[in-house]
Amino acid sequence: MPNSLPCPDKERKALTFKFLTPLWAGPAEAVIISRMTSRLDSLKEHSLVVADTGDIDAVERWKPQDATTNPSLLLAAAQDPRFRSLVERSIAEAGGDVAAAMDALAVQFGAEILKHVPGRVSTEVDARLSFDTQGSSERARRLIGRYEKLGIGPERILIKLAATWECIRAARMLEREGIHCNMTLLFSFAQAAACAEAGVTLISPFVGRIYDWHKQHRQVEDIPIEEDPGVESVTRIYNYYKNHGFATQVMGASFRKTGQILALAGCDLLTIAPDLLEKLAAEPGEVPRRLSPAQAKVSAAIERRRLDETSFRWLFNEDAMASDKLSEGIRRFDADARKLEKLVVSLAAAAPAVPEPG
Ligand code: G3P
Repeated sequence: MPNSLPCPDKERKALTFKFLTPLWAGPAEAVIISRMTSRLDSLKEHSLVVADTGDIDAVERWKPQDATTNPSLLLAAAQDPRFRSLVERSIAEAGGDVAAAMDALAVQFGAEILKHVPGRVSTEVDARLSFDTQGSSERARRLIGRYEKLGIGPERILIKLAATWECIRAARMLEREGIHCNMTLLFSFAQAAACAEAGVTLISPFVGRIYDWHKQHRQVEDIPIEEDPGVESVTRIYNYYKNHGFATQVMGASFRKTGQILALAGCDLLTIAPDLLEKLAAEPGEVPRRLSPAQAKVSAAIERRRLDETSFRWLFNEDAMASDKLSEGIRRFDADARKLEKLVVSLAAAAPAVPEPG
């Protein structure tokens, strides 16, 4: 497994030193302690670590292989004065068309992120197209076209689509055209099985939002890692993929605590927010591999499921958590996209008018 999230070494060592040097430690012990492997370094031996953020400075700092964004992360980044010029550039480029400005903004951030990563960036299609196969595939092609105009080829982009039946159909079509997809808001086995059969490049099964749902329904403060339903869901999907030889990569996403990440060490990729990267970099210790194709072989076998639309919808609907979380996830991404639109409109209105020629 390629592994490339070179943590800023000096900073990591300084942090490790600061947190770990006990009072008794003399210079020799301090050197040994400061050289201890961090959990992040150790994790990188098992999984490809990806940064989940729209914060370009954080990407530059962590220098991951890949990076992922979503509408909520883009909204946070666009509101940050450090990135205001990117927003203004997108507005200017779109010439008054709000929808075009939103696409331009996603691509401007993606292109900027790509200056700091050797791999791919994930750019999400408008959540309002979550139930529109044609609309979401056309939007994906437009995003790829915008990247191409900036000299960035499709091999560096993952088009992020909600894992609805309609978008899984769109992804199937796009993959055949050489446009790679990352299926997001994935909470269930039904979604994962359908994505694998559609031949998508990558899925992002969520951990934290599944954990949130169960915590709320059980009315508990925490669920221990050994019983974490988000970790269990990703493990089950990973084992199913490996046992049936699917090429689709599994990227665990949406984490609430480092324990959830460490419990999935070995998953093909893990996309992690900067605050949790920071924590993993500051914690010393070896991380044992939890997921592997060999381990998958000894797990309870799940028969291959080739779902058609009816059986997909039935199986998905059987899962109350996944049904709730997919709907809520689409609503949340849409709400944040609308907030971003408002910001774009207000900035466009405040921009100095371009004088008419002549
Ligand atoms: O990559 C998906 C991730 O950004 C969602 O995370 O924390 O909003 O559940 P979260």
